[in-house]
Amino acid sequence: MVSQVVPVEPFDLVVFGATGDLAQRKLIPALYHRLADGQMPDTARIIGVARTAIGREEFRAMASKALETHVAAADLTDDLRRRFLDCVDFVRLDVTGDEGWDALREALGRDENRVHAFYMSVAPRFFGSIALGIRKAGLAEGNVRIVVEKPLGHDLESAQALNRQLGKCFSETQIYRIDHYLGKETVQNLMALRFANTLFEPLWNAQYIDHVQITVAENVGIAGRGPYYDTIGAMRDMVQNHLLQLVCLTAMEPPAQFEPDAVRDEKLKVLKALEPLVDPAQVVRGQYRANGESGSYRQDAQNPDSHTESFIALKLGVSNWRWAGVPFYLRTGKRLRNRLSEIVVHFRKVPHSIFQGDHSHLHSNVLAIRLQPDEGITLSVTIKDPGPGGMRLTDTQLDMSFSSGLKRPVHRMPDAYERLVMDVIRGDQTLFMRGDEVEAAWRWSDRVIGGWQGQEAPHPYDAGSSGPEDALMLMHRDGRRWREIAT
Ligand code: BG6
Repeated sequence: MVSQVVPVEPFDLVVFGATGDLAQRKLIPALYHRLADGQMPDTARIIGVARTAIGREEFRAMASKALETHVAAADLTDDLRRRFLDCVDFVRLDVTGDEGWDALREALGRDENRVHAFYMSVAPRFFGSIALGIRKAGLAEGNVRIVVEKPLGHDLESAQALNRQLGKCFSETQIYRIDHYLGKETVQNLMALRFANTLFEPLWNAQYIDHVQITVAENVGIAGRGPYYDTIGAMRDMVQNHLLQLVCLTAMEPPAQFEPDAVRDEKLKVLKALEPLVDPAQVVRGQYRANGESGSYRQDAQNPDSHTESFIALKLGVSNWRWAGVPFYLRTGKRLRNRLSEIVVHFRKVPHSIFQGDHSHLHSNVLAIRLQPDEGITLSVTIKDPGPGGMRLTDTQLDMSFSSGLKRPVHRMPDAYERLVMDVIRGDQTLFMRGDEVEAAWRWSDRVIGGWQGQEAPHPYDAGSSGPEDALMLMHRDGRRWREIAT
């Protein structure tokens, strides 16, 4: 079979914060898989940077451990592990000082044609000093990219300050802002579904769509990062970035090409068309309480008086010709019944039924794009119930799970970071957020957050449930209901 993988050019990837959780849990395993698939050349180098007092061998041992923990045993062979670790180097450097930059320059070498990518896997307060350090050390010349990741600000003002800070050292085409949801296979599939098929696009508007539901439910709590999470909450942690990106991809106009600025221009238009949420009843905030074995949010946050939301549901509108009057219902939360992320498009009912009898139990067509778990698409359609007995109608599902629905079996769904890191090396910004997008998302989110300041505490919900009752009411009031977060 012809390989599906196009190898990238040799590169040096410098990972600041290389001993931290993201690097160990996501980046190292992602790069290993890209090497195993033949996409990352053996001459590529991954240079871990941290202030920890360790050397190259200790860092390699750490990376090896990360592979054991986060790569399935069947995918980890001794030969590949050795080849991968041969690519790994380490430089000790404290990003707040001047020392270590010479060693990094040494490690990088002088080949200006080679891609040099600097991944800032550190807290955002260090982004500015790292950007400056790279420039001062003379490492910003040539084929250079920097990668940053959320939180990209806490509000509009801090996001603008961050953009200005990065903009002093790098041009927009060199800045790769990751939202890892854009690297998820099914999120990219949403674009394929919409723009590589004629079937859906003619129906993708207010005339045929009744409403859209987007759910990102997690069963985990916030234990482990409680006090930090308590300063942000679900709106800043999930809605401002991941969920709004999903809204953008669902609602945007077809870009002229699948090309960075064409796609990002269209997403930006959606963000600018989001209606301000002026009615407080359109936002429901929740906080999980103890249930059975599960402790409460307040225990996990170590804050007995916390008013931070671990759940949020909201109803928003996109004010443009295509979407006028079509509500988008969003919800996300921790410690919910199950882990489930999906975008669900509910089409309108047929304008007139030619069939006799009571069909009120039947649903209209529903297209569900499942991001996780078990990535796939289902389309519910109404058919004739097979067999004698007249023209009886029933609902059925056309179900395509990507792991089983393709001719070529999918052995493993690549993690979002695999795609995104390779795109950085290839210099493709299509799946990365532009500075103005991030700011537009904050502009809208700040107003939502401003709307609940000083208001009552979030509604409690049981850990392991579907969220607070009021979130159900958000839809019931409109004569609609959420899809179940099944166990
Ligand atoms: C992160 C949030 O961005 O996304 C976490 O900070 C959340 O709170 C995570 O758990 C969810 O990502 P995924 O890929 O597991 O859906």
